Amino acid sequence: MSFPERSVLVIFGASGDLTRRKLVPALFRLFQKGRLPSGVQVLGFSRTSYSDEQWRDYLQQHLPPEDREPKEAWDRFAEDLFYLPGDLTVPEDFTRLRKQLDALAPEGTQRIFYLATAARFFPRILSGLMDQQLHRGSPPPRVVVEKPFGHDLASAQSLNLLLHRGFDESQVFRIDHYLGKETVQNILVFRFANAIFEPIWNRSYIDHVEITAAESEGVGTRGATYDTTGVLRDMFQNHLLQLLCFMAMEAPNRFEAEAIRNEKVKVLDAVRVLSPEDVPRESVRGQYHGYRQSPGVDPQSQTATFAAVRLWIDNWRWQGVPFFLRSGKAMDCRTTQIVVQFRQPPLRLFRQCGGVHEGNRLVIQIQPAEGIQLHIQSKVPDAGMELTLTDLSFRFDRHFRGRMPDAYERLLLDLLAGDASLFARSDEVELA
Ligand code: BG6
Repeated sequence: MSFPERSVLVIFGASGDLTRRKLVPALFRLFQKGRLPSGVQVLGFSRTSYSDEQWRDYLQQHLPPEDREPKEAWDRFAEDLFYLPGDLTVPEDFTRLRKQLDALAPEGTQRIFYLATAARFFPRILSGLMDQQLHRGSPPPRVVVEKPFGHDLASAQSLNLLLHRGFDESQVFRIDHYLGKETVQNILVFRFANAIFEPIWNRSYIDHVEITAAESEGVGTRGATYDTTGVLRDMFQNHLLQLLCFMAMEAPNRFEAEAIRNEKVKVLDAVRVLSPEDVPRESVRGQYHGYRQSPGVDPQSQTATFAAVRLWIDNWRWQGVPFFLRSGKAMDCRTTQIVVQFRQPPLRLFRQCGGVHEGNRLVIQIQPAEGIQLHIQSKVPDAGMELTLTDLSFRFDRHFRGRMPDAYERLLLDLLAGDASLFARSDEVELA
């Protein structure tokens, strides 16, 4: 990876949840591993009136316990953290931001603006940046957007329009943290770095595919936001569709952002659009008991916290193969996994014999217990010709030492390097 000599990452929403829980811990972990390129500075912008020192202390107090030691590492890292109190509704505060940036980041510095606020502030931030000409410069500044990228097609289009008013698409990085997960990237490696799976990765061998993200936690303190979002916008439009794309796409010609995103767009373009009449047949929605009593949730809420949707991909490879997407909160276990169910053999030679007779199954375990299992039929020893399902199993933690990196570590590094392969493009978001 090659990085600019100097970068400054401006975080809007610097006193918020995402910054303290994900962004700063990920940057700090990269720093500790020696992966954070030198010359990266971070400038937090938020309403709370912190000084640099106070913001650093606040961030340090919220580090996960395992990252708090050694204290010297944090102190060295924190030397490059700065803070500017500012109000997004006050134009002069954007003038102060420009001045601070001019002082901190001389000509030639890569400027990156990270919108880690609630989506309703995006328009204000973008116009504030454009008013100050902060969207221009050499090298061209980058802007990072967190989901939701709109709440329907029209609002996704208007957000894209707004972004494109000041930024070229190549400057825009839309984060879907699922793409930063090692196990999600491993889908591409599994499919395209091994020759043996590709010949069977189609309608002739695959009966159906299940993509499941079950969470055991409820909405917790996020009730107010979640109640206006619901599971389809929170998990399906982004994370589950990204998994679907990786599972269903053709091999890109090159391992490059545009080539990968072109293939994903083709998958989304081939997903059959459900008509209102299809919806009751192809989907199920539900809400967990107790959801309406969560803080911030409307006591009459109809918001779905669980959904299952059957999608069809109308292309040669996948015609007639259903993709079942499911996700829910407050489920009885936490697991994100993809199951590829293969067809039964054409001739059932052992149908008269006892035991379990099922088609092969490939399980891609995204989290926890990250790994891949292939379920195969085997003979039960010393039991005539009785069959059973056994598995060939790969677990990341048995092969690799050290903890799995957080998704944001990879995404922030790619962002600093300007590699958009794991970020969503505007047409992809609109199709999704
Ligand atoms: C977020 C959703 O994008 O993803 C949350 O807004 C959800 O509701 C989370 O809990 C799940 O992420 P992960 O990495 O824990 O699977």
